[in-house]
Amino acid sequence: MKRLGVNIDHVATVRNARGSSHPDPFTIAKHAMECGAHSITIHLREDRRHIRDSDVLKICKNKKIITNLEISLNEDILKIALKNKPNFICLVPENRKEVTTEGGLNLSKNLNKIRKIIDKFNKNKIRTSLFVDPNLNDIKIAKELNVDCVELHTGKISNLVKSKKNYIYEYNKIKKCCELAKKIGIEVHAGHGLDYKTTAILSKLKEIEEFNIGHFIIGESIVHGLKNTIRRFKKISNT
Ligand code: PXP
Repeated sequence: MKRLGVNIDHVATVRNARGSSHPDPFTIAKHAMECGAHSITIHLREDRRHIRDSDVLKICKNKKIITNLEISLNEDILKIALKNKPNFICLVPENRKEVTTEGGLNLSKNLNKIRKIIDKFNKNKIRTSLFVDPNLNDIKIAKELNVDCVELHTGKISNLVKSKKNYIYEYNKIKKCCELAKKIGIEVHAGHGLDYKTTAILSKLKEIEEFNIGHFIIGESIVHGLKNTIRRFKKISNT
């Protein structure tokens, strides 16, 4: 069985658009868990464009919510993450001008920094993950960094599937990364840009143990509700 993580950053985007307190990410996090999500993903960005410190505090404090906190390598954000003790952390690259996380981490450039961060979270018994592009070299580096999981960036394959282009080359790249990760003992996750179609395609890869999906789930929920949307994703992905 695979697991489904629901990213609720865009609940906070809608709330922030009016500078009010509704919709409340904490309430939606609890609801998503009740609807069958296995975990909730939130990204505390340096510019706080969606999730805020107070959301992290409330969500991490509630033991019924399994929280996956996405963070950059920024020192201040790291301190907040260690203080709030989420169940999982996922290190992601961050660039102020980007609309969303555009690619995976540059592991070779940030090797020592990432190693120290992973050590800290390992000591705190927090599951660690690195958001990487699907390339074999990054999987090998991830192993050296003693990380528990890698999350493969699925933005490229998602765009190819959405624009009805040939995605086989990208799919095979992801497949090879999954096989290598599994062989060397790293758990594989997938996320970014996933909709029903790409999730169904990637679900064939038995090595993928977790999908983290945000924008499409929140968008679909406007028409079909969170419960139905989560249910449909779970069916498609055998989660
Ligand atoms: N996984 C990671 C590591 C991400 O950074 C994001 C986007 O914040 C997602 C998954 C979810 O992507 P999407 O909102 O496109 O489903």
